[in-house]
Amino acid sequence: MNLFDVYPLWDIEPVKGLDTTLWDKDGVEYTDLYGGHAVISVGHCHPHYVKMLSDQLGKLGFYSNAVQNSLQRDLAARLGKVCGYDDYSLFLCNSGAEANENALKVASFHTGKAKVLAFRKAFHGRTSGAVAATDNPKIQAPFNATQNIVFAPLNDLEAVDMELSRGGFAAVIIEGIQGVAGIYEPTEEFINGLRLLCDKYGCILIIDEIQSGYGRTGRFFAHQHYGVRADIVTMAKGMGNGFPIGGVLISPSIKASYGMLGTTFGGNHLACTAALAVLDIIENENLIENAAKIGTYFENAFKDDKALKEYRGKGLIIGLELKDEYVGLRNRLLFEKHFFTGAAGAQVIRLLPSLTVSQETAESFVKAWKELTELSPRT
Ligand SMILES: Cc1ncc(COP(=O)(O)O)c(C=O)c1O
Repeated sequence: MNLFDVYPLWDIEPVKGLDTTLWDKDGVEYTDLYGGHAVISVGHCHPHYVKMLSDQLGKLGFYSNAVQNSLQRDLAARLGKVCGYDDYSLFLCNSGAEANENALKVASFHTGKAKVLAFRKAFHGRTSGAVAATDNPKIQAPFNATQNIVFAPLNDLEAVDMELSRGGFAAVIIEGIQGVAGIYEPTEEFINGLRLLCDKYGCILIIDEIQSGYGRTGRFFAHQHYGVRADIVTMAKGMGNGFPIGGVLISPSIKASYGMLGTTFGGNHLACTAALAVLDIIENENLIENAAKIGTYFENAFKDDKALKEYRGKGLIIGLELKDEYVGLRNRLLFEKHFFTGAAGAQVIRLLPSLTVSQETAESFVKAWKELTELSPRT
């Protein structure tokens, strides 16, 4: 049987990892500044993470949501404290799309309304509601098309006000920082204005922190740089450092009822253990501070860089928009200097490294970049 061929793949097969280093099957070493789409938050194969997961696997790997599971309660308690939403409730699932799907359902159940306002260039996942709220018709099948989603331009409060005033909206969904689009931030004025408009029109503010959250920006969630509070926050990616887990934080004003949501795998023993190990490491190694520190280093190092049109982002969610003559740089970084990075289209290189990334590694990347761009913009 062949694999269903939906991914264009690099001809590289990593078989071993340690922190931000990867080795391929021929023993060639790479530096990972992408973490497999922002998933690796505490480094590959962190010994504490490996030990906790191995120990749990030897005890009990899985049971469904029909019995008590104190690991889920421990995770909720720990996460509540570190993320600043202690009074909210946690629903556990398995991925980012699922987290958004559940968030949209909760908002719709709660308000009794069906419409959702999302933003141009947004990416919220590939399941039915999440992909409908994603501004990319190429990944929406006819089955996903719905009149219930309206898109407004980011950072345009007037447009949001006009749409919401038509009525019928359950929710507004916005990324903490738009990731897949190429790293675009809502302004402080916009996100605070959005909060007020959601209150005015009685709709739920969902902030999708799946890519921008979990300490990556130097705060637990990107929106916390602006003091705004969401009604629902979604997370995944860095939460399990590669073990699939997603979470939905739900305001105390929204009441749960039996059967309202559900999942077979969500919140299983291994997933909760992975998430607890990640929180241990984030706290013990002060990784949120490290994300801010290394982010500031990158920002300064790339100031006035000759290859860049624009530097965007906060902490360790970074978009490097290239001048036209440098668009081949990502391939050169990979094949000539052995750095894994991400992209958003041909023009933007995305850096989403583990929050453990060291100053030395950051400097080695900048050095490699400058060497490649110094002499000629060969692409
Ligand atoms: C902001 C955002 N939301 C949702 C998702 C979907 O997450 P998943 O691929 O885990 O379903 C992603 C994935 O890239 C994302 O960046």
